[in-house]
Order: sequence, then C-alpha cells, then structure tokens
Amino acid sequence: MSTNRRQFMLQGAAAAASLMSINSFAKAQQSVQTGLAEVFRQDFQIGTALSNKTLVENDSALLSIVAREFNAITTENALKWSEIHPEPGVWNFAPVDNFVEFGRAHNMQMVGHTLMWHRQTPAQLFSETIQQVDHCNSCHSYQKATSKKALLSALETHTTTVLDRYKKDIYTWDVANEVFEDDGQWRESEWYKIIGSNMLEYAFRFAREAHPKSCLIYNDYHVEKPKKYASIIEKLDAVQKKGVKVDGVGIQCHIKVDQNSPSLKDLETAIVALSQSGYRVHITELDIDVLPNAWEHKGRHVNELTDKNELNPYTNALPPSISQQLSERYRSVFELFIKHRDKIDRVSFWGTTDDESWKNGLPIAGRTSYPLLFDRKKQPKPAYFAVKNLRAAPTP
Ligand code: GLA
Repeated sequence: MSTNRRQFMLQGAAAAASLMSINSFAKAQQSVQTGLAEVFRQDFQIGTALSNKTLVENDSALLSIVAREFNAITTENALKWSEIHPEPGVWNFAPVDNFVEFGRAHNMQMVGHTLMWHRQTPAQLFSETIQQVDHCNSCHSYQKATSKKALLSALETHTTTVLDRYKKDIYTWDVANEVFEDDGQWRESEWYKIIGSNMLEYAFRFAREAHPKSCLIYNDYHVEKPKKYASIIEKLDAVQKKGVKVDGVGIQCHIKVDQNSPSLKDLETAIVALSQSGYRVHITELDIDVLPNAWEHKGRHVNELTDKNELNPYTNALPPSISQQLSERYRSVFELFIKHRDKIDRVSFWGTTDDESWKNGLPIAGRTSYPLLFDRKKQPKPAYFAVKNLRAAPTP
C-alpha cells in the first residue's frame, strides 16, 4: 500500500468522504475507457447477474455499464425452473434468449443458474394427483409425492431441453444450488426427500450427458463454514467416483460489511481446501450488506416493524463512514481473491447497481440497501475504486 493511500485511510470519516467523492468523480471519467474486466484480465473473469427486468426492458443505460465493466454474465432468475419452465411442457425462453444475444454481442462468458434448487421451482413438480374410484363408483382425487422415477424423468427432460437449447453459448452451469445446510447435512428439500442422497449424482450426470464439454459447478452460500465445505467436497468426490466429472464449486459470497462475517481467514481456508481437492473456485454472487440482520423478520415489510428505523437506517444516502467501511471490505476481499487467483476462475457480483439488488427486498421488503459497486444513479461508488485501484494505476 502506498504512503499516500495509507495516510488517506487514516483520515477522519468526513475528510475521507469528501476526498472520495472528488476521487470518484475524477476516476468516473476514466472508467469509461477501462472496465473492471480489463483491469483484472490476468486474474479472473469479472461478472455480474442480469435480471429479467433488465433483459426484458432492454435497459440500455445499465447494459452499457455491464458491457464496459464485465466479461461474464449470469442469469439472475431467467433460468430458474419456475421462470423458464413454469408448467410441464410450458417454456419461457425469451428472457434467456435475450441474455444469450447480449452475451454473444459482447463476447462474454455466460453462466446458467440453476438446474436444481429447492426454491423458485414449481410445487407441482413434487406432487402428483391420484384419481381413485371408490366402491360407490365415485371418483376422488388426492395429492401424493411424485415418485422418484417421475421426478428424475422431469429433471432429465428439463436439463436436456435447457442445455440443448443453450449449450452453444452457455458454458458454465450452476447445476445444483444450496443442497446442504450450514452444518453439512443434506437439506431436507423435496429433491432430497424424493430422490435421496444420489440427487447430486443424477443432476450432474444429466447435465454432463447433455453438454459434455461444459464447466459444471455446485453453488452454495456459507461455503466458508468448515462443516459445509467439507461436506460439499465429500459429496462431490462421491459423484466423481461414479464417473461424473464436476469442475468446480461456486461460493456465493453474500457477505456482511462486518470483517468477521465471514472472516477472510475462513474464506481463505475454504478456497484453499476446495482447490486442494481439485475443484476450481468461482465466486458466484458477491455482494456486501451494510444493513442490520433482519432474517428473524423474513417475509415482512420493514414498515410493519416497530424497529423499522434501526432495520433500515440509510433511507436517503449511505453515510461516509459506512461507505468507507464498505470500500475497505470490498478491497480486502479482492486482495484475498487476487492472492488466490490461481484457484479462482471468476468473481461475479449479484447485480450491478444498488437499486436492482435482491437485498432491497429480502429478507424483508422495503429497505434501501447498498451492496454493490454502482449507486442508484448508476455511478461508480468509492467501493468500485477501492477494488479497481488494486490493479489499476492510481489517478495522478
Ligand atoms: C440465492 C440464489 C440466487 C438468488 C439469491 C437471492 O443466492 O442462488 O439465485 O435468488 O439467493 O435472490
């Protein structure tokens, strides 16, 4: 770190804020020429998620930032089962077709998210209606869990249809998402309850057969928890022992501004362990939350809660001191990623501008969140420059 930078970081919050805004302005002029993807070209791909809204509305202001800054894109929602395949035989390909067209036009690595997940998947996939005629000859119907055979057949049809359509363009696939609990146990999802512990093997086998040369990864949050990454490695190794190649693991990386949530050490240990076990690391959904934890109120609207001001403290703007913390946290996680650039193929953000982030609506609705590198006016934030300046020449 340069002496100038060190001095700068030691200044008080107010001074830092005004310096940062001047810096941001000066550097915003430069960023038009060199996006993050270019700056980190020797390290890893830099990606973002594209929402259905952006794809359908063809938001040109946002798409021009994406084209400039990133060389990888992920479908935020468009490839989730409920979106692309809401009912048996009903397919909604248009948003993914738009995604692919944009990716092709800008020569981007494209990531398909996701083929097997317990959320955003139609409930009817997991149950079937049984018709029964009773002894009085009247007909009754009832719901029963789909059989393992029927669910596997649906998974195979879904995977093959999606991959056949997009395999020319989409190379990397989040085959399965969030299959394990934080303690490493299988999540008791409908997938697990019906198929059992070879669900991962089937998911990867169907994808590999449909797209043999693809990069197939397993994706999850809290991967840095020791029991979780140990279990992921064990279960993926078991899949590979059955002859189905798995290329990597996606660490979602929805983290907090708090340096301990998670600690860099825990993240590093997980990255190293995955790599030593032969799995390429993808950082798949990076964002950094500055808002207080609200998971205990999941599903509520912030305005219904008595502590709404504490839970949504920055409705007008992010105070300079918090913006400084956010920049610091982004800088330090990127320093870690650069240190392990030989193990990491891609670092993708979960969106581009703060207003489009899922963090405004989850776990509670109605909050003003600041987790990304571009603000609501689509301007690069101080955090953007904190990341970029790790590789770019500082402004004279
Ligand atoms: C998980 C999923 C993403 C997204 C986020 C929140 O991380 O993998 O697709 O749904 O939750 O929106």
